[in-house]
Amino acid sequence: MFQWLNQTKESAPEQTAPAHVAIIMDGNGRWAKKRGLPRIMGHREGMKSVREAVRTASDLGVSSLTLYAFSTENWSRPEEEVSFLMKLPGQFLETDLKDLAARNVKVEVAGEVERLPVFTRDAIAQAVEETRENTGLKLVFALNYGGRDELLKATRRIAERVKACELSPEEITEATIESELMTGSITHVDLVIRTSGEQRLSNFLLWQAAYAEFYFTDVLWPDFRREHFLKAIEDYNLRTRRFGGV
Ligand code: FPP
Repeated sequence: MFQWLNQTKESAPEQTAPAHVAIIMDGNGRWAKKRGLPRIMGHREGMKSVREAVRTASDLGVSSLTLYAFSTENWSRPEEEVSFLMKLPGQFLETDLKDLAARNVKVEVAGEVERLPVFTRDAIAQAVEETRENTGLKLVFALNYGGRDELLKATRRIAERVKACELSPEEITEATIESELMTGSITHVDLVIRTSGEQRLSNFLLWQAAYAEFYFTDVLWPDFRREHFLKAIEDYNLRTRRFGGV
């Protein structure tokens, strides 16, 4: 049925990779609970799925992959869990940055990074710097990211520009708002994947996902493998996107 599973883009030319895929990596806690393990073990296992998703996206020629790694709401989790989650970007980049660079991946971040611990910021800053010139997959870590927060901050900055008479209200366009978003030049998402059976957007990329296709799977994030990602893209390829038209 899925003849192109486990194949690279070259051997599966009939499939079109979406330009921007965004993933809500859900189900780590449940994965751990099912095994009688502490929740943080689910997050640690989830790093392997991050690695595989990045490699798959890169192999398929996806232009941008945005991963929801920590939301503005996640601060309300137990301190031990938050502290563990904060260490993951650094741990991942320590082991994988060489491979990312070799794959021509460009690392970026979206979110209020100022509130993150210094070691998290430093790890991200180093990866961003070292991959700045790369032209392959854009890998965006959404860290301390919230769609409402993003739109709130954008609105404030635009209001400041109006107050300073740099802009009149009539001159505000969609492009003005997009220029203030945390995702930079990546303004639209083509495919949002959410794992673990939940079917919500959870404050992720509210503006950018306006015309996104959604793919939900019951697979828990730590179990999400290349074949699951390929199945999501195959499903995406069956959709007809109308962008409000007929
Ligand atoms: C949601 O699952 C997951 C998170 C809030 C964290 C996601 C983080 C990772 C997958 C690791 C990130 C790795 C890098 C490299 C940044 P949940 O804990 O809400 O699961 P549950 O709904 O089953 O409790």
